[in-house]
Amino acid sequence: MCGIVGYVGDRKIEEVLIEGLRRLEYRGYDSCGLALNGEKSGIYRKRALGRIDNLARAIEGHTPSDKRSGIAHTRWATHGEPSEDNSHPHCDCSCEIVVVHNGIIENYSSLKDELEKKGHKFSSQTDTEVIAHLVEEKLKEISRGAGIKHALPEPLFFEAFRRAVNLLSGSFAVSALWVKAPELIMSARMHSPLTVGMGEGENFLASDVSAFLKYTKKVYFMDDGEIAAIRRNSAEFYDFKGKKNNKQPSIINWDLSMAEKGGYRHFMLKEIHEQALSAQNTMAGRLLPFEEKRIFSEIGLDFNEAARIKELQIIACGTAFHAGLVGKYVFERLGIRAAADLASEFESRAALLDRGTLVIAVSQSGETADTLHAVKAAKRNGNKVLAVTNTLGSSITREADYTLYTHCGPEIGVASTKAFLGQLIAFYMLAVNFSHARGITDPQKAEQLCRQLLLIPDLIEKTMALENKIEKLTEAFSSKEHYLFIGRDLSYPIALEGALKIKEISYVHAEGYAAGEMKHGPIAIIEKGMPVLSLALSSQSLDLIKGNIEEAKARGADIIAVVDEESKKTVKARHYLEVPQINELFSGALAVIPLQLFAYYIALQRKCDIDKPRNLAKSVTVR
Ligand code: M6R
Repeated sequence: MCGIVGYVGDRKIEEVLIEGLRRLEYRGYDSCGLALNGEKSGIYRKRALGRIDNLARAIEGHTPSDKRSGIAHTRWATHGEPSEDNSHPHCDCSCEIVVVHNGIIENYSSLKDELEKKGHKFSSQTDTEVIAHLVEEKLKEISRGAGIKHALPEPLFFEAFRRAVNLLSGSFAVSALWVKAPELIMSARMHSPLTVGMGEGENFLASDVSAFLKYTKKVYFMDDGEIAAIRRNSAEFYDFKGKKNNKQPSIINWDLSMAEKGGYRHFMLKEIHEQALSAQNTMAGRLLPFEEKRIFSEIGLDFNEAARIKELQIIACGTAFHAGLVGKYVFERLGIRAAADLASEFESRAALLDRGTLVIAVSQSGETADTLHAVKAAKRNGNKVLAVTNTLGSSITREADYTLYTHCGPEIGVASTKAFLGQLIAFYMLAVNFSHARGITDPQKAEQLCRQLLLIPDLIEKTMALENKIEKLTEAFSSKEHYLFIGRDLSYPIALEGALKIKEISYVHAEGYAAGEMKHGPIAIIEKGMPVLSLALSSQSLDLIKGNIEEAKARGADIIAVVDEESKKTVKARHYLEVPQINELFSGALAVIPLQLFAYYIALQRKCDIDKPRNLAKSVTVR
């Protein structure tokens, strides 16, 4: 949540910052701002409510010509309502220090009290502002001789910043400028992502590499408890005590076009269309010829150790949790006991885990605070953790013992689509491999399942042929305010996912239910004309779901059934969305697509802001 961008170099700084902010807008978009540090003109700061365009308009023709560095921010409010005063960058008393921050400073009110007693004047309701005043205070403290004497501004700024961040508790990615050190950006990271991009005679920083991918692919991922001093020709890293860290850069293999809309109206639609390709990428080189150790050696898990794992605990939030629920069903169908829990509900229960249970944490961003906390709790209990994520170098990969990347490419739309699909495929692959390692699935069967998995990208392409039909269908439904999604067994999490998609981008009320639960309460809400999206694919539970559909119809529901060729013969619905036939085990990968498209076109009819739905941010990095 919230996005930070920084730049020091010869380009037009405000252009680099605004462009970076646009790429990070998915992280939060209730307000934004930037600050530039000029050689003679000092700090120029501008903030705006709403979208980045408002900021771009506000600075046009007003920025100083002698600027040397800059920082910028797009906000998702935690402390203080969205307003210009609460927007970042925040200043110290004389606006000589400017700060942008992502995260939450948990001890901000006690720090603020102390600073106010010392005469500091605050002008916002945010937790972030204390950081600027703390740096100011530390500058004074050092200059008064209370600490190390530093004559030069840069070491002085470094030391004041270092001392200030040592006083913060909570989660933060923070960057700061000081008027007297115009070519230095100080940054620190604690439980909130920050990356530094290395250019030639210029350097970048951002919450996410997509902000500077256009300029460089050479990236340092900052660690928790790390400070960076970023200058035009260097980036140096230190721990919070001031000891230098030697870091190796990573090279990002995404290209910029992957992070752009490529002619689609919305990122969400582009990402729905990318699913065949991204499913292919998730599987590439991992399935055939079937080799028992291949996936385990990729993730660094010893095969014999994998063979001893009897039970799995999956943890995740939101859409990733729904993928985890599918994972649970698939693992169990292949003979391995698995539980799936919401990461936000898991931390206090981690101590009950059997030490031999492998924890699988699923997160597109790898930065979701609840998932990270749940991972740490599992680690404290002595469990090994496998991260399934899309994001190289993300926080979750640093906490986990093993990582399986989904390789879906950047997902920008707040509503997760292709990342969900990548997570499903990751689970399918893991389930086949773990089941084989345990001796439950024999190598021939494992190879056969891998062959079926490899059909998925083509079948996704075929499923996309439903798009026009769905677009037309949504014209009839777009004024509805209530939707039900029902499914059983492997399709139950897909019903949950369908309901979440439509809720988050269309702002309508939708419930996902295990169809067997309908008679235990929810059927009471069905009235004439209520759309009930029913997952009715060929499966062990088809007869049961058919019964549930009939019960809903008898109460006036308008049934939209997701079927395959076989099941369509016996399912009675008003509208059919037919997906290709596939092994029931993997059916979720196709069944979810019409539901994603349905949510997208309903939102389009309702003129909602599809890529930036209200109140949401792409990565939920606060709890
Ligand atoms: O980055 P993560 O996968 O950990 O994110 C988890 C959820 O916040 C995320 O899936 C959220 O539910 C999406 N907006 C759903 O579309």
